[in-house]
Amino acid sequence: MGKSKELVLVLVLAALVSGSASAASESRRVIESEGDVYRRNLLANGLGNTPPMGWNSWNHFNCIIDEKIIRETADAVVSTGLAKLGYEYINIDDCWAEISRDDKGNLVPKKSTFPSGIKALADYVHSKGLKLGIYSDAGYFTCSKKMPGSLGHEEHDAKTFASWGIDYLKYDNCNNGGSKPTVRYPVMTRALMNAGRPIFFSLCEWGDLHPALWGAKLGNSWRTTNDIADTWDSMVSRADMNEVYADYAKPGGWNDPDMLEVGNGGMTKNEYIVHFSIWAISKAPLLIGCDVRNMTKETMEIIGNKEVIDVNQDPLGVQAKKVRMEGDIEIWAGPLSDYKTAVLLLNRGSSSRYPITALWEDIGIPPKTVVEARDLWEHKTLITQFVGNITATVDPHASKMYVLTPVA
Ligand code: GLA
Repeated sequence: MGKSKELVLVLVLAALVSGSASAASESRRVIESEGDVYRRNLLANGLGNTPPMGWNSWNHFNCIIDEKIIRETADAVVSTGLAKLGYEYINIDDCWAEISRDDKGNLVPKKSTFPSGIKALADYVHSKGLKLGIYSDAGYFTCSKKMPGSLGHEEHDAKTFASWGIDYLKYDNCNNGGSKPTVRYPVMTRALMNAGRPIFFSLCEWGDLHPALWGAKLGNSWRTTNDIADTWDSMVSRADMNEVYADYAKPGGWNDPDMLEVGNGGMTKNEYIVHFSIWAISKAPLLIGCDVRNMTKETMEIIGNKEVIDVNQDPLGVQAKKVRMEGDIEIWAGPLSDYKTAVLLLNRGSSSRYPITALWEDIGIPPKTVVEARDLWEHKTLITQFVGNITATVDPHASKMYVLTPVA
């Protein structure tokens, strides 16, 4: 019997013998907290203490992928310095398998595009100090319909993934026969837990059944939106849809507004800075979606901004919220460890520049606190210290991002 179970027993017995109300309520408290621990630990894979960081093939390559792209991407993630910044997962999305399983029921890597197999790819990616992710679907076929899904094959596929050395599974929701994700996803959670290898579990049911309400028991992240496109409107609307679930994000389980489009060419530099800043402050998975083998210096400056990444990876793990909205102006803020606060001043309008002021009362800083402000995109600590509020003038479709640190 584990120590905590012994303790529960002792307390229950003590309550019975002495009839003491306080011992009884103490025993109830311990039992309840054991229950909480049990519920929290249904997904006891120990992963996702901070939002996952890495790359995924879908946004840039769609179905046109092969093992060479994956290997070269792993090389580039290391050679560009992205790996050192924390990007570790190299995730293969849809279209990596043959349409038919083999006669033993195994998923078969597509011979024309992944001739060496996934195990060899995992070995290669691991040899670079990175991790390999893969994709399947809680339905009969994946969304592309070009490969099978895992519905009815969960145990088998989870074991296959573990035997290949897979570290991350994105699990999609297409062609599911109409049953609820809350029925289909737990089967894969259990299968992964029994597969003998910690595998980050990314639920991708697009926010259909409000997965923030149940996702933490089943996975390490859950999509809150439909697919992102490489446009300003698509990007900010994913951010909005994701924001309403802020209270549900915490270490071990994160809201996922979909993967990054930075570097794919559909937005301006300022818009991509807004994109990366909102994803970071929202504790979203930072999954790069461009071709990192051929990215520009500008793209690297954005996805490689260590100060912004540090906000995303802060150990407190609290997702920022919109704390004020006035017309085109928005203020997003969230606490960080060591009494710091991350703030984003956002101009959503497309034509005017505005001065934007964040008030301490809005962003949760005690009124008389004096802070130092670090501008995360200028990489400068402002000379002036601030008390009560901070103001900046912000261009259209642009933002300013600060970390505010109380001055002793
Ligand atoms: C769905 C997912 C996408 C991507 C595609 C692949 O649309 O939401 O992120 O995985 O399927 O077909």
